[in-house]
Amino acid sequence: MPTPNRIPIQIPPEKPQPLQRHHTARYYAHRVRESLATRVSKTICIVFLSILLVLGIVAFILWLSLRPHRPRFHIHEFSIPGLDQATGFENAQITFNVTARNSNQNIGINYYSMEGMVYYRDQQVGSIHLKDPFYQKPKTTTVLDATLSGATLTVSSRRWEEFLNDRGKGKIGFRLDIKSVVRFKVSTWDFHRHTMHATCDVYVGPNGYILPTSKDKRCPVYFT
Ligand SMILES: *[C@@H]1O[C@H](CO)[C@@H](O)[C@H](O)[C@H]1NC(C)=O
Repeated sequence: MPTPNRIPIQIPPEKPQPLQRHHTARYYAHRVRESLATRVSKTICIVFLSILLVLGIVAFILWLSLRPHRPRFHIHEFSIPGLDQATGFENAQITFNVTARNSNQNIGINYYSMEGMVYYRDQQVGSIHLKDPFYQKPKTTTVLDATLSGATLTVSSRRWEEFLNDRGKGKIGFRLDIKSVVRFKVSTWDFHRHTMHATCDVYVGPNGYILPTSKDKRCPVYFT
């Protein structure tokens, strides 16, 4: 007698077993050829990727060694003598000495003409032509020195009074801006031109000579 709560169990129909294939010699030859083909294509892939990797590393090293470093500027001297005279502006002079070092190992720098501008409180008080176009070899230093006076220096009696006023407070601040268009050069390969500024903030003491805190200081360089 069947019980009412008996769960009917369905037995799934048996799956047909895959037919045992009859492997022929041709089948095995095909299999071998196939695996050989995948192995060859894998090897080609690996070789190709390795070549890409090596090329990438070479390019990276080249880029590192050819990447131009900006020249380094340092200010060594800056003076404006005669600050103890009330009428000193009549024959005022500013003298400075800055060095520009090309620290690159293999990269030369082509400088187009170079100008020096002196600012006092963001007002230009003088400007002078420093250099005609020149080429700076790798690992060399160029001295840039000049004296501004007369036509290249525009110091009025009022400005001189401001200098004297600052002098009374212990120091006078100037900014020397050296401007040039530069082009880096690796053997015969030229990079783009850039307009370069080196800005030296410098303080002179009551005697008109550069203060020790400003001497031999590095001048930041930026490109526009
Ligand atoms: C400018 O400074 C450099 C480095 O200190 C020095 O070798 C050079 O003789 C100086 N030039 C002048 C004219 O003072």
